[in-house]
Amino acid sequence: MLNKIGLIGGGNIGGVLAQEIVTRRLARTVALVDVKPPDLAKGKLLDIAEGTPVIGTDCEFVGGKEFDVLQDADIVINTAGVPRSVRPDGTYPTREELLGINLKITDSVSDGIRTYCPNAIVISIANPLDAIVYTLHKNLGIPKNRLIGMAGVLDSARYRYFIAEAAGVSVDNVEAMVLGGHGDEMVPVRSCCRVAGMPVEKFVSEDELAAIETRTRKAGGEVVGLMGTGSAFVSPAWSAIEMAEAILFDRKKILPCCVLLEGEYGIDNLFVGVPVVLGRDGIERIIEVDLDDDEKAALAKSVESVSKTCSEVDAMKAKS
Ligand code: APR
Repeated sequence: MLNKIGLIGGGNIGGVLAQEIVTRRLARTVALVDVKPPDLAKGKLLDIAEGTPVIGTDCEFVGGKEFDVLQDADIVINTAGVPRSVRPDGTYPTREELLGINLKITDSVSDGIRTYCPNAIVISIANPLDAIVYTLHKNLGIPKNRLIGMAGVLDSARYRYFIAEAAGVSVDNVEAMVLGGHGDEMVPVRSCCRVAGMPVEKFVSEDELAAIETRTRKAGGEVVGLMGTGSAFVSPAWSAIEMAEAILFDRKKILPCCVLLEGEYGIDNLFVGVPVVLGRDGIERIIEVDLDDDEKAALAKSVESVSKTCSEVDAMKAKS
């Protein structure tokens, strides 16, 4: 069990994260910071705390609007951000305006981490994922093993779920990975997809596989469209919890994560989703998958759009 897990952002995902940490007994102390008044973080934690006698779990809770609650956290999970929603005057922010707002939030998240838990392993979920992780890297400058973006575990879980459904088998039997950026150009790697160790093509037709891969790339939007307001929050939270568990139990689990590449896959100085070994030290090893030519081309395309996003971040930061 870890001493302390810190959560930044107590909205939908932050709430599920806090709940899962308590029910799975992952940390002695759960800390939650959220700027939303009157005191969303305190309220969410009080709700969970008052339920602990029912589930028989002892846990310490520290919540509030200030980052000092994160003092000495071992792992920090970041979900702070604002979604694209209608303003009081009926207009929507442009993509650039929204990015600007979320980068400012990430600057304050960075200050909080730097001040109160500079040695923590940071898992970031907030969107736009690639831009936020890159900003945290620029702001914090922490060793690359301690900064990890959560996207690949979720995108791969979605791919696995769709394959399991099509094959009529347990999700446990499906192994699959989605690499690259967390956008429409993410790369479901068919050559790595196995059903109980056998090639996926034995269970699912080529046409159905192609449709599943397209659905995987747009899966976040599908949920948003159905829910009307907000976005997926249970599956992203569980995905980050899987990463946190791999770290805190030193499991050496291979999971696709958004990490800083320095030459691997021929990519330099960019955060890209690739399989890594997660253990006590965070990212302990980057695994280079043997991709076929189509997958290599798809990854290059996805990386190009990550690179464009990072240039946009650099330009915005230079202006501010
Ligand atoms: N510090 C702390 N918390 C903040 C800050 C800040 N500077 N700015 C905003 N927040 C909080 C908001 O008050 C809100 O409670 O972040 C929370 C975000 O919660 P939700 O809007 O419910 O979003 P959620 O569904 O949890 O998703 C969080 O993860 O998957 C991504 O796209 C998603 O970027 C979004 C993030």
